[in-house]
Amino acid sequence: MEGVSAIVLAAGMGKRMKSALPKVAHPVLGRPILWHVASTAAAAGISEIVFVLGHGRDHLKNTVERFGGRVAVQERQLGTGDAARAGLSAVSPKAKEVVILCGDAPLLRPRTLRALIAARRKGKAAASVLTGILPDPAGYGRVVRTPDGAVSRIVEERDGDASIRRIQEVNSGTYAFDRKFLARNLPRLTDVNTQREFYLTDLVVQALQEGKVVVPVVAGNPDEVRGINSRRELAEATSILLRAKVGALMDSGVTFVDPGRAYVEAEVSVGADSTIEPNVSLLGTTRIGRGVTIQTGCVVENSSVEDGARLLPYSVLTGARVRKGAIVGPFARLRPEADIGEGAHIGNFVEVKKSRIGKGSKANHLAYIGDSLVGKKVNIGAGTITCNYDGIAKHTTVIGDGVFVGSDTQFVAPVTIGKGALIGAGATITKDVPPYSLALSRAEQKVLADWVTRKKPELLTKAGLKIPKLPKEGPK
Ligand code: UD1
Ligand code: MG
Repeated sequence: MEGVSAIVLAAGMGKRMKSALPKVAHPVLGRPILWHVASTAAAAGISEIVFVLGHGRDHLKNTVERFGGRVAVQERQLGTGDAARAGLSAVSPKAKEVVILCGDAPLLRPRTLRALIAARRKGKAAASVLTGILPDPAGYGRVVRTPDGAVSRIVEERDGDASIRRIQEVNSGTYAFDRKFLARNLPRLTDVNTQREFYLTDLVVQALQEGKVVVPVVAGNPDEVRGINSRRELAEATSILLRAKVGALMDSGVTFVDPGRAYVEAEVSVGADSTIEPNVSLLGTTRIGRGVTIQTGCVVENSSVEDGARLLPYSVLTGARVRKGAIVGPFARLRPEADIGEGAHIGNFVEVKKSRIGKGSKANHLAYIGDSLVGKKVNIGAGTITCNYDGIAKHTTVIGDGVFVGSDTQFVAPVTIGKGALIGAGATITKDVPPYSLALSRAEQKVLADWVTRKKPELLTKAGLKIPKLPKEGPK
């Protein structure tokens, strides 16, 4: 949207959160409240976003950088009018229109914002204001209208009498302004009110004094105007956005077996024909491909799971990649930089960290694979462990294509196993193994005949076994 800039007001602390963290930094679906507001502005097509920050602004660095990095600092919180004044000083001269958004209202949708901008243009108004009709309007500023429906003023709850408090139409704190009007009128605000703050809402009366109008736009869905002021409201906003996220994914072709029991964060994507079972958490920047099945209890964070792969119950993935058609779990753990090849199998109680597992390879039971490069069609037996850490540094294990690793093997890294080699069960491999060879590293088995009968017959009695007759010892 050409010539439109946004100012997001977010300098307040948000005392009612009872938190050391500034209010707008609290996460909703894994992203700060402020991130949601900025992403709505960006999705509406506004490219310049100015953040007015004060309290705890260090906690908001990532969000600000993600959306262009423009910040106006408001050192003392003298009210929304003062915050807007700080913000306007950082808006580029090219902007003819300025949208002001509340940093604490993450439920606003892009199309509503576009409608707000369009309404001001259409009405050739000084401003348009987004309002909402709330069954319980307590705490919000109320919109007072003239008999013909125009906005005559906005009164904060604590400045209003009983008749004001009865009004159910509230101010969302979201506005579209003609830039010149805003620039001319912000300096004229005063702080004559119960809170001794500069109220942005007083611009309504100033517009009327100039013979201009402020057009109201009533949000079709009153949830959109909700600001977050407490932990309860944070939880309510989270559940509204979660329902919307899961609903949108279902509309795009994803099956949720029980949509009320899935947790999907804001930036997660899921391809069509994927199925998400109950109690699954999809977090951060996770990307799920098409036709993927994610079974009960899986937690997938900042990971990508490609087409046709399956995560069996209770698998936990962080920063991992699972390629096409691979099968992971149940009870598998993939840590950062685990890269599971096409069609590979990672089974129960297998942990993989910073390792590439080649196409079609299998580690089906009880293993730890760290800092490793595992080739194609490798079979890793139960109980295999890469000893990647010597107490000082991490070392790499390289296992070539088609290697068969017997159960209960330890690879003391750094070590390289050539392709096609066979590692006998119970080996502790400390030296490289050339291709196609057999490596064994265990003491030869000894058998002492009749030892139990002679030395520990009580064990046999305890087990309910008859004590066998010993052959007579002949002369030596
Ligand atoms: C404000 C509106 C009210 C509206 C409500 C909607 C005014 C006077 N009141 O009230 O009509 O119904 O929002 O949620 O505008 N902020 C700053 N600097 C300041 C003060 C506030 O940046 O000096 C920021 C806050 O961080 C917050 C936003 O502005 O993100 C709104 O401030 P808040 O104190 O929550 O205003 P409300 O009392 O909710
Ligand atoms: Mg508020």
